[in-house]
Amino acid sequence: MITRRDFLDLTTKALLWLSGLLGLGGLLRYLSYQPPPPPPRRYEIGAAAQYPPGSRTVLAEVPALLVRSESGFEAISMVCTHLGCTLEYKAEAFDCPCHGSRFDAQGRVTKGPAVEPLPRLRVEQGDDGALVVLKD
Ligand code: FES
Repeated sequence: MITRRDFLDLTTKALLWLSGLLGLGGLLRYLSYQPPPPPPRRYEIGAAAQYPPGSRTVLAEVPALLVRSESGFEAISMVCTHLGCTLEYKAEAFDCPCHGSRFDAQGRVTKGPAVEPLPRLRVEQGDDGALVVLKD
């Protein structure tokens, strides 16, 4: 026959062990945490021939807008300079869905809260004609 006192004593000890095990599990999970790998700094975007002169192509994976002019290629970052949201490109302008900043087609700020223009990313062309966008 188990007394009320024994039952409460056993229950208390069981709950203490359980909370200790849960805490230990959380500690082990914390100690074994692996940070995610850094995002890539180099994006292969294919042959230059697929981007005709005068084209403006959104590269969603970068994210950037690839501009091909008569003088060559240029990539404008599509990461908002306010707090880092990804911009939307439409009607020759970049709009930020987070806080409403707006940039013109050259990446200059036309409406805040952002104050810095959009940075340019390096575009390199290999001997085989393939393009690579580099984030420095
Ligand atoms: S992150 Fe774009 S306006 Fe704030």
